[in-house]
Amino acid sequence: MAASRRTASLLKSLIGSQLRHYSEGVRTVTLIPGDGIGPEISAAVQKIFTVAQVPIEWEVVSVTPVKGPDGKFGIPQAAIDSVNKNTIGLKGPLMTPVGKGHRSLNLALRKEFNLYANVRPCKSIEGYKTLYDDVDVVTIRENTEGEYSGIEHEIVDGVVQSIKLITEGASRRVAEFAFDYARNNGRQKVTAVHKANIMRMSDGLFLRCCREAAEKNPDIRFEERYLDTVCLNMVQDPGMYDVLVMPNLYGDILSDLCAGLVGGLGLTPSGNIGTQGAIFESVHGTAPDIAGQDKANPTALLLSAVMMLRYMNLPEHAAKIERACYATIKEGKYLTADLGGKGKCSEYTDEICQKISAE
Ligand code: NAI
Repeated sequence: MAASRRTASLLKSLIGSQLRHYSEGVRTVTLIPGDGIGPEISAAVQKIFTVAQVPIEWEVVSVTPVKGPDGKFGIPQAAIDSVNKNTIGLKGPLMTPVGKGHRSLNLALRKEFNLYANVRPCKSIEGYKTLYDDVDVVTIRENTEGEYSGIEHEIVDGVVQSIKLITEGASRRVAEFAFDYARNNGRQKVTAVHKANIMRMSDGLFLRCCREAAEKNPDIRFEERYLDTVCLNMVQDPGMYDVLVMPNLYGDILSDLCAGLVGGLGLTPSGNIGTQGAIFESVHGTAPDIAGQDKANPTALLLSAVMMLRYMNLPEHAAKIERACYATIKEGKYLTADLGGKGKCSEYTDEICQKISAE
């Protein structure tokens, strides 16, 4: 009798918590903590989200490769199922073992979930001095093809060929995404970055798709610039640009250049937007030299999580966390070593939590 009462009460509380979730709009997000410093910075983000009372629940999964029935290593099915079910994920850095036979897990995730647009906002952070004070650009990189299609072969001994694949579908999809992003984020202008003067067919097709998207979005200004011109302008006057959209390789390089203008990869968030979902991630690596020492800077992952909240239409929670993070950096008391401070990851995290609670 006592046991059935206990079961009934357990069921009641479970149903109650489920109902509470539905009524409060609690959503489940897949969390891939990753390797090296990944678990530390993920724990920091989880702590900050709890204090900020963000209405999400984490489903923690590992993406350590497992051997499939065909003998090949791949992402565990449980991780794939989790992202497919939740459609939104936050990911820490993953180690790519050096050597033959290891495919980058990051690439595998991009492919698995068709994450076609990589978005990286780069904004100057008050209190962290770099060469420029007024950077506020967003790079949107086509993430699935271009120079990174992986189609390479040796024609004859000593001659290899690498194919840059550009398709109308992928170009149009990322171009339209850039205009939607600009509109949804209060941005004024989209610049298509290309080398269509040299690669007339491939970049020419990409550019045509951008022009067509521009025609459909007359409320957003549009311009086209050569990649080399953008690099020159970016280091002379980053304020010239707003949202930049470009093929894969150009985006890979230019997004790191932009990150450098605001203080490096440790501060830069990113989002990979796909047809079936989106995965937000810090762009730095696993930092094996400081892993497990409470020295990691969780800012990049935290700001990626803030991007995720905006994507999930939780702008108030995003703004609250972002304010606390920027205020902590501006104050400079608990900066981690990569930002020139002596603070520990846990101290920096606690300070952000304190600021959120004090609001
Ligand atoms: P890394 O970014 O891990 O480290 C470069 C330097 O930056 C190190 O001195 C490290 O201590 C520091 N650093 C990086 N993130 C930091 C943070 N959040 N706070 C404080 N310091 C930080 O690059 P590395 O050493 O080339 O790569 C290490 C591993 O990470 C490799 O296995 C690589 O494949 C992987 N990697 C994974 C990425 C991802 O999952 N998106 C991206 C880049 C590398």
